[in-house]
Amino acid sequence: MNLLYFDTLPSTNLYLKENYQTLEHLTAVVAKHQTAGRGRLGRDWCDSDDLLMSILLKNDLDSNYLDSLSLVICATIYNVLSKYTTGLEIKWPNDILYKGKKICGILLESVISNHVECLIIGFGININHYDFPYELKNKATSLSIINEKTYDVKKIAQEVLIAFTNDFEKYLQGNKEYLTICKNNSCLIGKKIKYQENEKEQEAEVVDILDNGYILLKINNELVEKRCGEITLHNNFY
Ligand code: BTN
Repeated sequence: MNLLYFDTLPSTNLYLKENYQTLEHLTAVVAKHQTAGRGRLGRDWCDSDDLLMSILLKNDLDSNYLDSLSLVICATIYNVLSKYTTGLEIKWPNDILYKGKKICGILLESVISNHVECLIIGFGININHYDFPYELKNKATSLSIINEKTYDVKKIAQEVLIAFTNDFEKYLQGNKEYLTICKNNSCLIGKKIKYQENEKEQEAEVVDILDNGYILLKINNELVEKRCGEITLHNNFY
């Protein structure tokens, strides 16, 4: 376990992609600011005194892990943030929300040749972000807005790395605690949603989240397992 700090990087995920060969398994990188922070679906990730962190995995890898690891890190971050606030929910596949507003987004990336060289688990947790741009005001929040105080970002980075190292070990041993946390605190299970995949949108009901990281939906009275597409809730924010 190794934690590297930078003032500014284009992107912590990109840093690990470019340097994974010389870095150890479970090296984590934190930047105070990113100039080209990347979100899912090619979006940007804006930051302001937040936790911008990526963790490198090089051992015991399998490309099938990508989907379930997304749930493992969701559960880790959910547990760490729960020490600072109640009212958090997990939105499959990789967001943490507080009262419907996003407080954390996760972006998993991999480097694959003829095998999986490494997995990179990147996440942005809104910590001391106080002033979101107009278009995000109703969609995003931070620990600072929730509790009206500022936090030590490095301390939270250490807490997340220690907790994830422990959770990843348990995951490799077959422990499914991460799944229970994701299911019990899901904002989707039992809800009617719009499920969007490859630009096609369908109505569905969320039945369950599976341990392979897939979501179980009921579409036109049929049960179907889906990998991470884009989920949209009815009458909702995202
Ligand atoms: C999302 O779209 O919700 C995922 C956002 C992930 C942002 C984090 S910030 C640290 C890491 N480095 C990046 O460039 N992206 C991730």
